[in-house]
Amino acid sequence: MCTKYLIIIITWNSVFLFVSNVVYSRKLLLPSYDPVKIKWSMVVQSCNEAFAYEKRYASFFIRTSAHDSLAFNSKSGGADGSVLLTKDELSRPENTYDKFTHKLAPVAKKIAFRTGASVADVIAVCGAVAVEYLGGPNIFKINTTTPFYVGRTDTNIANPHKQLAKGSLNTTEFASFAQTKGLSLKEMIALMGSHVLIDDQNCKNNDGTECDPTIEKCDRIKMFTWSNLYYKDVCTTPTTIYMPAIEVVENITRADRKKHAMCRYTSQKFKDEQVIDALAETEAILGQDGEVDPITGKLPNGFQNVIVNLRDRPLWSYTINDAHLGKACQNKKLQPQETDGIISSYLKEFANNPVVWNNVYAEAYKKMISLRAIWSNKIEIPL
Ligand code: HEM
Repeated sequence: MCTKYLIIIITWNSVFLFVSNVVYSRKLLLPSYDPVKIKWSMVVQSCNEAFAYEKRYASFFIRTSAHDSLAFNSKSGGADGSVLLTKDELSRPENTYDKFTHKLAPVAKKIAFRTGASVADVIAVCGAVAVEYLGGPNIFKINTTTPFYVGRTDTNIANPHKQLAKGSLNTTEFASFAQTKGLSLKEMIALMGSHVLIDDQNCKNNDGTECDPTIEKCDRIKMFTWSNLYYKDVCTTPTTIYMPAIEVVENITRADRKKHAMCRYTSQKFKDEQVIDALAETEAILGQDGEVDPITGKLPNGFQNVIVNLRDRPLWSYTINDAHLGKACQNKKLQPQETDGIISSYLKEFANNPVVWNNVYAEAYKKMISLRAIWSNKIEIPL
């Protein structure tokens, strides 16, 4: 009797998997993938090993989890590993900043190969492990309504183009983006807190002091630390947004540029590569007769969309969209029912209460990494 039902269930699962793949025209890479057979503690351990070698991989996994799962339309896409498995997605402008997907693809594939997990599951799991590695909550154990599922199938068909948010969204476009993706505004704002890890914080520590990578490790600077400082920053920094960008004098010396490049990674290999890239970029901008001020050694101009209206004019480390959200937070005249008023109340809540933020983040993350996933067998991760 039992065996009969088991066979019916297995047959149903296979039929469902087949139909969903035909509907979404997906090609399965691991047709017999069964998450029950995977040692998930080994996957977690492998993610941690990767982060111990290079901490920036943690931020890359978090960003990649969003780019894999949020890139879908009504016909195709979603959390399917394609962001690291298809040449098309790997080469899209939104996936090439600091070559993050190129750097991450071999790491994710190695973990998948070693453990037997799908690449889509590796992205989802390592993104969660990354949060804890950087000092945040344990997303597997935190008590929220959505369980942490595994069993995502991979595909080598690229997700549809232009389904991710542009970095310049205003607040109305941001709210509509959240809605299209099936996330509440509160959840999307909680996910944006990951932007505390954006590398343009240079060598800044959490308390605003600077770390010197020529004499310190600088592996606990702001961009490598999970904190709710994103909300405090956007809600308190006065900015002006320029579209198109305006030309500004960057108050930075060649030596500082080198230090900032070093701070973006923790492994010597990537530090060295980043320094070479950053200096080559500087030469390309300046040309061979670069006008470096002979007295101060400072380099001239760059283009910026967001100008910080403070006396010392620090560079805005976040995106244009983050500046729009921040403006909503700083506007005291808003009504609570207006979109900007709602955005403002969530930003303030997360700025004041990191525990609430972490809970909403964990819930939102678990929802996000399951968007449009096609499950070979959907199980709660046994950790
Ligand atoms: C409206 C939605 C979003 C927009 C417009 C956006 C845009 C961007 C942009 C433009 C950058 C590069 C910034 C720079 O370094 O100059 C970035 C970085 C990053 N984003 Fe987002 N993002 C969005 C949502 C998310 C979500 C949902 C997550 C994760 C849950 C995320 C995680 C990250 C992380 C961790 C980085 C830094 C990665 C690194 O180390 O370089 N973002 N984002």
